[in-house]
Amino acid sequence: MDKYIVKGKANIKGTVSVNGAKNAGLPILAATLLAEGEYEITNIPNLTDIRTMAKLLKNIGAEIEWGDGKIKIKTNGCENHEAPYDLVKTMRASIYVLGPLVARKGEARVSFPGGCALGARPIDLHLKGLRKLGANIELKHGYIYATANRLKGTGIYFEKKSVGATANILMASVLAEGETKIQNAACEPEIAALAEFLVRMGADIKGIGTETLIIKGKEKLHSANTSLIPDRIETGTLLLSAAITRGSITVEDCNPDHLGIVLDKLEEAGFQISTTENSISLNSKGPKHPIEITTNPYPGFPTDLQPQFCSLLSTIEGDSSILETIFSDRFIYTTELQRLGANLKLNENELIIKGGAKLSGAPVMASDIRAGASLVVASLYAEGKTEISRIYHLDRGHDKLEEKLQKLGVDIKRIK
Ligand code: EPU
Repeated sequence: MDKYIVKGKANIKGTVSVNGAKNAGLPILAATLLAEGEYEITNIPNLTDIRTMAKLLKNIGAEIEWGDGKIKIKTNGCENHEAPYDLVKTMRASIYVLGPLVARKGEARVSFPGGCALGARPIDLHLKGLRKLGANIELKHGYIYATANRLKGTGIYFEKKSVGATANILMASVLAEGETKIQNAACEPEIAALAEFLVRMGADIKGIGTETLIIKGKEKLHSANTSLIPDRIETGTLLLSAAITRGSITVEDCNPDHLGIVLDKLEEAGFQISTTENSISLNSKGPKHPIEITTNPYPGFPTDLQPQFCSLLSTIEGDSSILETIFSDRFIYTTELQRLGANLKLNENELIIKGGAKLSGAPVMASDIRAGASLVVASLYAEGKTEISRIYHLDRGHDKLEEKLQKLGVDIKRIK
């Protein structure tokens, strides 16, 4: 298993560009199952999760061809309607094939995703939505068996905002008969990107980017091409990497509009931010201040950036806090950050960060993608050497993170 060795007290200065968004790529790849034909997706990051989704499509019968930063997919045939346990257990987003398969093929058999490092993570909203569209769903032998003749458009109100359930139901409803109205839909940019892609495939969707999506089902869609939107979580992670070293950075090929509250919080903490249409610059001049963060569905503060922010806030004098409202076990990473010297007090879903800690390097272990990212961010500030193991978690969501940091002046090595 690979490890990172990071020499601390880094001083980041430079320019870096971000990769395409993993969480836009995953549903978009699954959406290619909705119509036969040839697809080309560009700005595709080289990530384990993206490769897992490609394997899943191949297992279903799609032909896959990788190029530099792009993937070509041919979805003629696709007669094996199964997402097996071995693939689903490595990536929960495998559930994204459920909606498209049942909508186009009238049948899907998807391994039931279990819990994960972030907590229980149920899929009840996905299943309730599909049942409402007319699918018959049975759970047996650890698998979800879904069957349907043609799905029928209906009204779906999500009791809770869910990125995954919105994506799955949206993908199913574009082939349903009649109109579907999804209320309390997730508004994440990745959902808007999926919806735009479906429109390119011939779908009729109104309200993209809002909480109410109105879909007029089509009998058939066609293949299309697209380029993935920039990864806002990677963008944030790179900004926080520079911020913790009190350095300066310009992140290029990103979308500042997708990071509104994150940039506000960096400014509130005392960093200077300037943006162009597709870049964000941060510099660290001036006094720093503790801040309060509450995670929320988009456009609220993203849960996927709170661990990295925690690392930064550990280095700023005063009490900061993070209230986590999305995932019950998101704070699992804090025990490893404490090994680096962070002074953290967890009270149910609220973390109090006693800032101004003198972090020092130690062997630590990543428990999920963003937990791993928070350890990398903290290691840049720590005195001495930090050894981060289980970085296969980071490889699920960060394309060549070490190369990007090396270019910015960081002494970071991957050890096989
Ligand atoms: N939820 C339910 N029932 C459901 C679905 C979700 O109760 O049927 C709950 C979840 O337990 C959670 C909340 O609703 O409390 C929100 O979960 P959501 O469905 O929005 O999350 P997800 O689709 O499983 C995606 C991202 C996550 C990101 C979350 C929140 C992908 C592939 N994953 O997960 O990304 O943290 O939205 O923004 O898009 C990551 O990239 O590291 C990652 C974990």
